Amino acid sequence: MCGIIGYAGHRPAVPVVMEGLRRLEYRGYDSAGAAFARQGALRIVRAKGKLAALEEKLAQEPVATATCAMGHTRWATHGIPAERNAHPHCSNDAAIALVHNGIIENYQEIKKELAEKGHVFHSETDTEALVNLIAERRKSEKDLLRAFAVALREVRGAYAVCLMHCEEPETIYAARLSCPLIFGVGAGEHFVASDIPAFLPYTRQVIFLEDGEIVRATATSYEILRLEDLRPIIHEPQTILWDMQAAQKGGYRHFMLKEIFEQPRVLADGLAGRLTAENALLPELDALPVPGKLHIVACGTSWHSGLWGRHLLEHWARIPAQVEIASEFRYRESLLLNRDDMVLVISQSGETADTLAALRRARKQGAMVLGLCNVVGSSIAREASAALYTQAGPEISVASTKAMCSQMLMLALMALYWSERKPADNIDQTSAAFAPEQRRLLIALLESLPALLDAHLPEMHENARGLSRKYADANNFFYLGRGHCFPLALEGALKLKELSYIHAEGYAAGEMKHGPIALIDTLFPTFALALDDALFPKVKSNIVEVQARQGKVIALTNEGLDLTVDDRWVIPSLPAPLSAFMALPALQLFSYEMADYLGKDVDQPRNLAKSVTVE
Ligand code: M6R
Repeated sequence: MCGIIGYAGHRPAVPVVMEGLRRLEYRGYDSAGAAFARQGALRIVRAKGKLAALEEKLAQEPVATATCAMGHTRWATHGIPAERNAHPHCSNDAAIALVHNGIIENYQEIKKELAEKGHVFHSETDTEALVNLIAERRKSEKDLLRAFAVALREVRGAYAVCLMHCEEPETIYAARLSCPLIFGVGAGEHFVASDIPAFLPYTRQVIFLEDGEIVRATATSYEILRLEDLRPIIHEPQTILWDMQAAQKGGYRHFMLKEIFEQPRVLADGLAGRLTAENALLPELDALPVPGKLHIVACGTSWHSGLWGRHLLEHWARIPAQVEIASEFRYRESLLLNRDDMVLVISQSGETADTLAALRRARKQGAMVLGLCNVVGSSIAREASAALYTQAGPEISVASTKAMCSQMLMLALMALYWSERKPADNIDQTSAAFAPEQRRLLIALLESLPALLDAHLPEMHENARGLSRKYADANNFFYLGRGHCFPLALEGALKLKELSYIHAEGYAAGEMKHGPIALIDTLFPTFALALDDALFPKVKSNIVEVQARQGKVIALTNEGLDLTVDDRWVIPSLPAPLSAFMALPALQLFSYEMADYLGKDVDQPRNLAKSVTVE
């Protein structure tokens, strides 16, 4: 996730901006840049890599007199990490500099229109299209504010932007739509930033800008306006009482909790520009053949995503898929016999040693390898034949949460995308899932996910907290599920053990009677995934079997299902398998609350590393 800071005040602006960028480093980045005005022109300095590289370059610049500046840390989503893609980007006439967080979905159309008017582009970014669009509109609008607003009204997607113009060297402009942007009100100085820590040493008075708002600020004045009609809006600044660490966590107790609560945004970002009325848009896959068979390879939580995704790839796209743990795949005599076999490696970090080794092995065997990663430019993304990015933003907590949500979303989109490309006779005609009206329904459901999850997360959190108090003395837990809920059961168990160090086993519910049920007694509770799907009656029978052995049961279930258990946790209903997007955060929150209540180190569990780069 990119970080933005803009400053207009009485201090030397570039050091303020650099310090702000340092406080945004936790968001992750691969390049950085800054802009300031000097002698009627804008100076832009950018560097790939860490802030030290940018600082080294700025040390050669006469920055001392600038009292207005802006800076940016870039976490690549489109275009590789490189200096030419780093922000700020400049308009062709060198008058405007812009920093941007988000995705401009229609940037290709904008670029085309501007190219016809003679604009030239030097980067692969959507931001360069936007800054030139503003410059173009400036030619016909009476002032920069109007040009900025007119251009933003033409943009589809999400953005938080900050802008400077060489003719107004003491003024910053900023705006937001679906990306965070906070305005800081100091004494004789003003700030905009992606997050409060960027300017917390200077002011605790903040205004949380809303979608569709523009701000114009100098050292001594500011105005907030509606993008729609440029009418002024009055916001009373709020006082922030958090310390710096709490501010980096957005006020949440832990990064893990923050990341769980980011999932509605992760879903919205993942869907942005990826859907038509009846299909998924994945241009990254356009040049690849439709796989005849998929070998999905991953570790840990990413492996669970793969297990879940298999259901969709097989059911929706009718592509046979097998899912394997990377540390097994890399040493197994795996048979990649057919030219149309494809290996799909899934990894949040893109650096997991076993997954990378599995990828290399598959490539050596001549297989086509598709990488599904979160970190742009990571080893797996670079070494795969093609890469798809999950765009979840940096995940800081060791326990993976939002990454799994984003991987599941991409797997759903891939299944939808390939379902239309399979020859008709390969599609199971008994499945009505892909009649046009079904596709439209599915897409409408996907689009509803961010708002639905957002609305229910606080209540889920409350339920998780209540249950954790009741079950915190358990030493063991079973997690049971069937069908697409079996991978969720595995994930629920993994989260509980890695965070709270409570022994937990994820099982396919039907397997219990083949041995594990012998462990059940009054002290061995079960967390059952009993959602409203075709397998509910079977899961219900398995729950009854557990209860017959005096086992206590928490059931994650939906309204209206006939189930008698110790604790019934109702989550919003969605048709399977999309119901997983509601069940996953509930499982994460339960483990989070258990661990926090037991006083464990939630973000840094013992013995674990975020990225397992050794075998
Ligand atoms: O970066 P990767 O997705 O390749 O990481 C895979 C696993 O190491 C990771 O998911 C791990 O299991 C997490 N700690 C689970 O929360």
